[in-house]
Formats: sequence, C-alpha cells, structure tokens
Amino acid sequence: MQAAAPYCFRCELGKTFPECALACAEDVEAVIAREGPETVAAVIVEPVIGTGGVVPPPAGYFARLQEICREHDILLILDEVITGFGRTGRWFGMEHWDIHPDLVSFAKGITSGYLPLGGVGLSRRVYETLRDETPRGIPFMVGFTYNNHPACCAAAHANLDIIEREGLVENSAAVGAYLLECLKAALGSHPLVGEIRGVGLCTGVEFVQPGTRDPVGGRPMAFTAAVAGACTERGMLARAMWEVIGISPPLCVTRSEVDEIVGILEASVVSVAEAFPGA
Ligand SMILES: Cc1ncc(COP(=O)(O)O)c(C=O)c1O
Repeated sequence: MQAAAPYCFRCELGKTFPECALACAEDVEAVIAREGPETVAAVIVEPVIGTGGVVPPPAGYFARLQEICREHDILLILDEVITGFGRTGRWFGMEHWDIHPDLVSFAKGITSGYLPLGGVGLSRRVYETLRDETPRGIPFMVGFTYNNHPACCAAAHANLDIIEREGLVENSAAVGAYLLECLKAALGSHPLVGEIRGVGLCTGVEFVQPGTRDPVGGRPMAFTAAVAGACTERGMLARAMWEVIGISPPLCVTRSEVDEIVGILEASVVSVAEAFPGA
C-alpha cells in the first residue's frame, strides 16, 4: 500500500506546508489503521525521493514517521540506494534528521558504480532478533549466488577509502549548496520553472505551465525530454524524470564544473522554451 508522498509542490492531499501539519505523514498512519497494524511489516521510504523527481521531505516528516512506526511496532526501512555514500552531503541521507531506521538498503554509491554491489544494514534490534530467533547451529540464510562477491567488496573498500581521503562527502555538501544557489540564480525567475530543490549533489528543477502544475505544453515529459536532449547536444547528460530535470553530478565535481553545468542547462532551457509548442 502506498501513502501520500511528502511532495509539497504536488501535494496529493491538496494541502500547503506547514499549515498541513504533515498530513502526508498522518496519511501513513491512516493507511496502517485501514490495513490493520498487525498486517503491516514495514514502512519503506527514500530519504530524498530520487527518480520520483528529486524531492526532499518537509521538515519534521521523518521524526513523525518514526514516531508512527514505533507506536505501531512497525519496522522503518530507509532506501538509501540513491542517497547513500555522500550524495546528499552526508554519508547517509538519514543523517539529515535524528532518525534510527530498522533496516537500510544501499547500493550505487558504495562502489560508485564501478562494480555491482548492494546491501542491507540492520539495526542492532533486528540483528539480535534474527540471531536469537534462528535455530542454533543453522546460519541465517540469505542465499544469493553472488553474496559478498570479493572483487565487488574490494572495489567498495577502495571506493570508500577514496571518498574519505578526498573529502568527497564534504565536497558534496559544499559544492551541492553552490549548485543549488547557481540553479536558483540562473533559472529561478524563468516562467516555466515551478520549483528548484535539492540536498547536497542531488538536485532537480521542476518545470510547469506558468501558474499551474500542468506539464509544459500540456504533454507529460515532452518539455523535460526536449531539454535533456538539448543538454546532450551541448555535451552534458541530464535526466528527465516526469517534469523534473535531475542534476546529480559526481561527488568530485568542482565549482567551475558546476558553472559549466548550470550554463549548459540554462542555455538548453532557454532554447527549448523559445520553440516549444504550447509553452
Ligand atoms: C531509490 C532506489 N531504490 C532501489 C533501486 C533498485 O536498486 P537495485 O537495482 O539495486 O535493486 C533503485 C534503482 O535505481 C533506486 O533508485
């Protein structure tokens, strides 16, 4: 079951933050109540919604979500597959709030994608339950052929050493803040820009028909796909996700590269907007 996303710009509940009093978090509780708490194993969330449009949650969302999970004895699982290992300017996205999930999934950033590796982190409570409830002498079974692949784990170790040695998490925080500032300066007043948001090097620009939440020109993803195409022609890969262009450069990106990225995006938006039917 899915609850209302903590996506203020497109609030499914038609509310406005902070007057909403975190209605999206309360919606999670409503879903739990409707389904019956004893039938709900876990609530799973991304710290920052990634491919759904680069959406950081409103202040207080995770604290309330954790409270709801604790009240009903339901596990809280954070999906840090995108946000883990520095992407948001902290080692893990969850560090932006005082929360303690029961399970954390991770992948991409642990090897920076050089070799495939994913994993799940367990809280002490979950670990001890699995240890104590598994019959003695029988190991807790997670039976994938390539579990703990040594070459992939070696790549992860090397990658994590580089992230530490080169201060890439700190770079993500500092240069990410600069990226957000530059995106706002370059595109904040463009009539087709609805919202510019991000945390660390996880940023996005959402485009809408002026004064609405409708797709530019009335056709879903047509404008953002055209902008992504125009960026590619200028030598930069940008990802169109619905009405959002995501900009998530490597953790080692420099301020001068950010200037180039924002320049290319701005030029692409301006050129596509001029010729776009219905904009
Ligand atoms: C947030 C998030 N979670 C999970 C996944 C799926 O990860 P995997 O391919 O490792 O199963 C993705 C894939 O892009 C993702 O972005």
